[in-house]
Amino acid sequence: MASDRLRGRKAIVTGAGSGIGAATAARLRADGALVFTADMQGDVDFVADLTTPDANARLIEQAVAALGGLDTLVPCAGISAFHPLEGHDDAYFQRVLDVNVVSVFRLIRDAVPHLKAAGKGRVVTIGSTTSSHGDEGLCAYAASKHAVLGLTKSVAAELGPLGVTVNCVQPGAIATPMTAPAFTQMPEFKTFWENKAPLRRLGQPEDIADVIAFLCSDDARFMSGHGVWIDGGAMVRH
Ligand SMILES: NC(=O)c1ccc[n+]([C@@H]2O[C@H](COP(=O)([O-])OP(=O)(O)OC[C@H]3O[C@@H](n4cnc5c(N)ncnc54)[C@H](O)[C@@H]3O)[C@@H](O)[C@H]2O)c1
Repeated sequence: MASDRLRGRKAIVTGAGSGIGAATAARLRADGALVFTADMQGDVDFVADLTTPDANARLIEQAVAALGGLDTLVPCAGISAFHPLEGHDDAYFQRVLDVNVVSVFRLIRDAVPHLKAAGKGRVVTIGSTTSSHGDEGLCAYAASKHAVLGLTKSVAAELGPLGVTVNCVQPGAIATPMTAPAFTQMPEFKTFWENKAPLRRLGQPEDIADVIAFLCSDDARFMSGHGVWIDGGAMVRH
């Protein structure tokens, strides 16, 4: 349900051209935030490949000019990756790290002066259940998502004294364009995740966006440095 709990907040949401990022931008706006959106595709305010070294700095500059400041970051841009270790290509492994971690690191680092000035900043990163677990074929993806959780905890320790909270949501299997090909090609994979979750369904992007909005709000003011599983309960069985 829409509210005004984020009124006055000035947020960047990346990956906002699709899936969880798009749902998050909509939810933050519904709760009253001003939102500047970025992606390499789609109907967003800033279009770029965010792994380009200066892309995040340019994004921040344009967002601050458009919003009149910046106090909230939600870096949702990410790619999935599935490949066995044998024959795993260096460049592919590096690309997954660049998109899923390095670009998130740069966005947070380059936004620090603005978060500091705002005094009560919020950062919500997007991990995964693979931030805490691994599986076959997931060496690059799980390495990147473990790194996102480690980044989150360390940045929380560093930015806490500035009044900034930093948390990581860890979605389970969510129905988005990222997972659609796998669920279509392997219906048994979809059924596996539906049955693994005690709530007996895949997540929807809004299931994640609603928790992100909570973490961006004053209701979550004393919560920082944590990973939060949003998985329909699936990981109780792992
Ligand atoms: N869908 C799931 O089951 C699931 C589960 C756990 C975590 N996640 C994470 O949630 C986040 C969002 O995923 P989603 O499911 O909404 O996927 P999605 O594919 O629907 O959206 C991801 C968006 O990121 C953008 N993006 C990718 N690389 C980019 C780059 N280099 N520069 C700029 N934009 C780029 C894409 O263009 C896309 O619009 C990702 O970090 C993903 O790893 C998803």
